[in-house]
This record gives sequence, C-alpha cells and structure tokens, in this order.
Amino acid sequence: MISPQMISIVETTPYADQRPGTSGLRKKVPVFRQRNYVENFIQSIFDSVAGFRGETLVIGGDGRYFNRETIQTAIAMAAANGFGRVIVGQGGILSTPAASHLIRKHRAFGGIILSASHNPGGPHEDFGIKYNVGNGGPAPEKLTEAIFARSRVIDRYAIAGIPAIDIDARGTVAAGDMAVEVVDPVADYADLMESLFDFEAISRLFAGGFSMVFDAMHAVTGPYAVEILERRLGAPAGTARNAVPLPDFGGRHPDPNLVHARDLYELMMSPGAPDFGAASDGDGDRNLILGRDIFVTPSDSLAMLAANAHLAPGYAQGLKGIARSMPTSGAADKVAAKLGVPLYETPTGWKFFGNLLDAGLATICGEESAGTGSDHVREKDGLWAVLLWLNILAARGQGVQEIARRHWAEYGRNYYSRHDYEELDTATAEALMAALRETLPGLPGTAIGGLAVEAADDFAYHDPVDGSVSAGQGVRILFAGGSRIVFRLSGTGTTGATLRVYLECYEPDPARHGLDTQAALSPLIDAAERLASIERRTGRTAPSVVT
Ligand code: G1P
Ligand code: ZN
Repeated sequence: MISPQMISIVETTPYADQRPGTSGLRKKVPVFRQRNYVENFIQSIFDSVAGFRGETLVIGGDGRYFNRETIQTAIAMAAANGFGRVIVGQGGILSTPAASHLIRKHRAFGGIILSASHNPGGPHEDFGIKYNVGNGGPAPEKLTEAIFARSRVIDRYAIAGIPAIDIDARGTVAAGDMAVEVVDPVADYADLMESLFDFEAISRLFAGGFSMVFDAMHAVTGPYAVEILERRLGAPAGTARNAVPLPDFGGRHPDPNLVHARDLYELMMSPGAPDFGAASDGDGDRNLILGRDIFVTPSDSLAMLAANAHLAPGYAQGLKGIARSMPTSGAADKVAAKLGVPLYETPTGWKFFGNLLDAGLATICGEESAGTGSDHVREKDGLWAVLLWLNILAARGQGVQEIARRHWAEYGRNYYSRHDYEELDTATAEALMAALRETLPGLPGTAIGGLAVEAADDFAYHDPVDGSVSAGQGVRILFAGGSRIVFRLSGTGTTGATLRVYLECYEPDPARHGLDTQAALSPLIDAAERLASIERRTGRTAPSVVT
C-alpha cells in the first residue's frame, strides 16, 4: 500500500499555454523544464478522464532528450493518482505504433507517449507529451479540450514519493501499491507484424540477394528494425542504419523526407543503389519509401499499398474501405473505386481515422505527410508500411519502379507536391487564408491561369460514425480534369505559422508519366500564386520546403 504520507499533494499555479494540438502538447525542452510544467499537464490529463483506479497505463517515448525524466514523473504521478499498473518500455523506449499496440493488447486504460515526432531533440529542441485512449489512438478533440481547460485552472497535483524506477531492467517492481512492468519494447510489436505479413516470403527475398537500406535516423525504430529486418527476416547486419536511438538524434531532424533523409535519397538515385530504401521518423509512425531511382510519394504509396494489400496474409480478405486525409492526393480514390469499397476523406491528423477503424468502415488509411497505417493499431505506422511494401515486392517478384509504372498505367498518375512556407508571421498567414476564403464563392466557373475552376470550398468533415462536424479544415480549389490546390495552415508548428500549399495534377496518359514532378505541376504552382498572392503578402519568393 502507498501510505498516505508517501503521496504529496503539491500546490501549483496554471500555465496558459498547455493546449494539446493534434499530436499532443509540443514545446521546447526549456518550456517543459519550468517548475511544475510537466506535473500540471499530466495531472490535467488524469483529472480529465475518469475510472482509471486500479487500471493499466502504458508509458514510453521516442528516446529523445527529457524522455527519461518525464517517465519517472509520470510513473510517480500514476501511482499517486491510483493506477494499478504501469507498463513501460525498457529504456523508456516505445515507438508510437508499438505503444498503441500495447494499450490494445493489455486493454490498458490509456497511454502517455513522449515524443515530438519528427522534430529535432536536445536540450533546446522539441519535446512532447501525448495522451492516447483505450482504443490505442490519440485523445479525441473533446478530451484534448477538456485537458486544456483543466490546465487553465489546476491548483494541485498528486505525486508519490518513491525512488526512481530502474527502467533499464526488465521485470516488475512495486511503486507503492502500483506495479511497474518494464517490458521489451519490441517483441510484442514484432509478433504483431509477423501475424500480418508473409515473413517466409520476405525472408526468401532477402536470402535471394535482395538488398535494402533502412534509415532509423537515430530515432526510435532502430531496435525494431534490427529485430524485425535483421533477426527475424534474415536481412544482412547493417541493413538498419543509424539504428541506436540518441537523445538528440545525432543532431539531425528525424524526419524521413527528401530534405532530412537526403543521403538515403541520393544513395537510392545512384548507380549500384540497393533494391529498396526506407526510413522512419522520431517516434516511428511516418515512413519514406524509395526504390532504385524512384521516390514513391506517400499519396502514391497509400494507393499502391491499398491496391496490393490482399497479397499480405493479414489483408487477404480484402479491404473494408480506404481513408485518406483531405490534402492527400486522389490516387487512393481510384483504387477504392476499382475495388468497389468506400473512400473516406478526413481532415488532416490521424485521430479522424480512429472512428472509421473502430467502426470497421476502413482498413487502410494514410496521409500525404508520410503516414500510412491500418486497423492493426490506432496510429500510423512506419515499419508496417515498409513491411507491407516488402511483402508486395516478394509476392509480385517485381521492383518498386515496375510496380509504380504498372500502377500509373492502370489508374493514371497523380503528380503531387507540397510547398511549405515556414515561420511566417502568424497574423500575415491568417490574413492570407481569410482573404482566400472570401474569394471562394466567386471562383467556380472562372479560369485561373488557364485552369478551369470546377469547385472551391473550405473543407468540412461530417464524421459518419459520431455525426460530429469539423469545419474550416482547409481551402480546396478543384479544377477540371482532377487537378487541385489545397491551402491550409499547419497545426503542429512550434514557431510562427506554416502555410502548406498542396498541389496535384492528374495525368491519365502513360506517355506523360515520366515527367519531372515540379515541371508537371508548374501551371498549378502558378495558379496558387495568383489565388493567394503568397509573394506579395509574405515577401517569400519560394517555399522553405518542397516535398
Ligand atoms: C502534420 C501533417 C499531418 C500529420 C501531423 C502529425 O500536421 O501535415 O498530416 O497528421 O503533422 O504528424 P500539420 O502540421 O500539417 O497540421
Ligand atoms: Zn511521428
């Protein structure tokens, strides 16, 4: 028993800035280091949910700076607040999808995941605390709003005066009358992957000389990739690179895109490239897919995975439906139509997929921002996407390039790119969006730079499961022939505002499937400038990041 003297009720004063975004509360480490900052937020979570006495809480993170300290705080607070058991990944490590799986497997009450995803880590970089609910998915908006509201008035928190738990040793120890189970962070997740994919066929592929590089970017997926790719599937040692998680990710952005995974991209474009290249982000939920001489855009990857998923044992029964976020390209829509299954278009952010997956309406979902996943967990899952690709490559006996070309020949190609304007002045960015919204009613029927506008709106989502409506989710301009521009402001940035411009051009003609992406999109890039006057309003002549 925790004796009452072991529990301290500490008086505190609220912070005004603890509103969790789509991916939890994300701030710089020095912000989290403020007195009682972490404690206030964790207590606000516990105060906003009910019925966890004696229940299980899963805790883990991506290994970034401040992970270990926060885990000790969370354990001591869980004990004082009456949880019965905490499951924590050894070394404080749990990838986001692995945490989602553990919550589901152990029917836990919820989980606390410590990560700032693909943002850099270190004493002056980003940290984050995210709460996931019992289905394994991110807290729904109602709950994040309740947590925020609580954080504004919080005046005390409860913490147990217990010695620090040795989270490097597996096994169960007592923290007062709560049990702390330190578990292998990889094994359960690896077993889940083995249940979904044809590991024998993938092993034969590697045994036959198929070569692959997986870049873990010194983030959380390293130990997962070593266990699954090298130990269980027999890929040569060294297939997983940068496989040791580091608190500062080796000083790089653990973001698997063409900017931050540039060396992998260049390797895949060079003579003698391996057959397959892939990477994942800080917390293991995003993916980058490359073949020899080809980058598969996340939107295309979603479509190609959906079209071929039946080749993996876990999806042999076919898909119930496909879901994509609104700014994700329409490539998956063509696959859904052919398969005769519904296609759901949701706002940006993984949490909107949860209801569809829980209700059995969709099996596979994805976002243009390199997130792909399925109903096996309630988060996007980087290694899952890599393994499904490997399963498809093994089953079809074709390379990435050939699979992509055949896919485009069958469905047409959606040229796609996202242009980000980062660290804009917030008022300027909001004024740009407001002006754009005002022009929407007048656009249909006009032509912008020779492109005929068919429809224009500010996307609103009607959740088919709970009937809720999420409005103002991004401005879309739809052109004749299936081309499109979407404008929205990022909800995850930590400094200023980020304007995202999503450009898409549909090309049915296989003779035009070998174009350079930015060249193919140039009429749309031009139209975006005419529509939003980005240069005049922001002073920027070019995007900060093109993906
Ligand atoms: C970004 C991505 C979005 C993703 C989110 C969390 O959000 O665009 O797809 O779900 O990160 O990883 P944004 O900054 O655009 O709001
Ligand atoms: Zn992530």
